[in-house]
Amino acid sequence: MLQKIEETTSWLQEKLDFSPEVGIVLGTGLGGLVNEIDILLSIDYKQIPNFPVSTVDGHHGKLIFGRLGNKKVIAMKGRFHYYEGYDMQEIIFPIRVMKKLGISYLFLSNASGGVNPDYEIGDLMILKDHINLLPNPLIGKHYPEYGNRFPDMSETYPISLIDKAEAIAQKKEIKVQKGVYTATTGPTFETLAEYKYFRIIGSDAVGMSTVPETIAAHQMGIPCFAISIITDLGVPGKIETVSHESVQEVANKAEVKMTLIMKELICEL
Ligand code: HPA
Repeated sequence: MLQKIEETTSWLQEKLDFSPEVGIVLGTGLGGLVNEIDILLSIDYKQIPNFPVSTVDGHHGKLIFGRLGNKKVIAMKGRFHYYEGYDMQEIIFPIRVMKKLGISYLFLSNASGGVNPDYEIGDLMILKDHINLLPNPLIGKHYPEYGNRFPDMSETYPISLIDKAEAIAQKKEIKVQKGVYTATTGPTFETLAEYKYFRIIGSDAVGMSTVPETIAAHQMGIPCFAISIITDLGVPGKIETVSHESVQEVANKAEVKMTLIMKELICEL
C-alpha cells in the first residue's frame, strides 16, 4: 500500500510541480466549488495509476489542482463510496495521496437526510461529530507512517474551524445547523424505523460518505471541516419519497451557500 501511495504521488508530482495546502472532497452534485478554482491541472481518475474509478451518476471523477483565493488546493470532484463496491482501502487511498502531496487541511461536502426535527430541506449542517456505521477504514495492516494505530477521536472536527465557519455564515446571513452525521452503507435510503433509530442514537443527519475519509485524515493529523446539505427529511410527519435525483436537485440549489462558506473559510486559514 505504501508503495502504491508513493507511486501515485510521484506520478502526480511529475505532471505538476505543486504542493497543495488544502484538500477538498466534493460530494453528490456538489462540484460547484470547482468553478471558483483557478485550475492548473485537471485529471480524470481513470488516468491516475492506482486510483479507483467513480461509477455513480453525478460523480464526475476528476482530480483538480489549482488556486482557490490565496490557497493552493487539490480537489476531488466525485468521491468513492462503499456502496459502489470499493473497499475501504480504495476509498481512503486518495486521502493518503493528498497527505503525501502535502495538504494540511481537508474539506469535505456531502448530501444527507435530516433526522433532527428542527431541520428543513436545503439547510446546511456543519459536522460537529460523527457516528460511524460503516466498516472502520483503519482495520487491517497498520503502517506507523500513517500515524497512531488507535487514534483519539474526541475532536475530529476542530472547534476552531467550526467557529470560523459559523462567523462567516453569520456575516453572509446564511443559516447553518451544527450536528452529528451518521454514516451508513446505503445504497438504500432509510426505512421509517431506521430514521427513527438514527435519531434515537444521537444523529442529526444520515448519509453514505465522508466518515471514511475523515477518519483516515484524522489519523494522519489533518484537521477536517465537513459540511452537509440536508436534501430530505427522515422526520416523522415530514417524510417524503426520496430518490438520487431529488437529492441532487436540492443539493444543486443549496450548494451556492455552501460554496461561499467553504471558499471564505479556506481563504481565512
Ligand atoms: N439517507 C442516506 N443518505 C442520504 C440521504 C438519506 O436520507 N439523503 C441524502 N443522502
